[in-house]
Amino acid sequence: MTYIVNEKCVNCRFTDCVEVCPVDCFYLGENTIVIHPDECIDCGVCEPECPAEAIVPDTDMNDELQYWLDFNTKYSQEWPNITEKIDPLPDADDWNGKDGKKDLVSTQPGPEE
Ligand code: SF4
Ligand code: F3S
Repeated sequence: MTYIVNEKCVNCRFTDCVEVCPVDCFYLGENTIVIHPDECIDCGVCEPECPAEAIVPDTDMNDELQYWLDFNTKYSQEWPNITEKIDPLPDADDWNGKDGKKDLVSTQPGPEE
């Protein structure tokens, strides 16, 4: 199994999660973040750190979870690694908890550390 980041991160990208990961397996996109499923050791410590509740285990698989597992798998191999917290995106608090952010996710990489 692994933990993954889902659409709740989109346009928020608070990055509290990266500071607690013992294996530094977060990768930064333009308006979200992803976990590398092969590097994640399933410790679970990042899950409660996310203010947007965007981190979930890949148990109880369904179509939506599969979509984000595939997304995390693909872009963790293309985006830069991030190990330290950065500022949230400008309107993060406004976007926190909004539905329908899946269509807004960017596939572009975020800035290098
Ligand atoms: Fe890192 Fe643990 Fe979260 Fe996996 S579950 S991304 S290893 S903090
Ligand atoms: Fe995203 Fe939550 Fe981390 S909003 S960047 S998964 S703390």
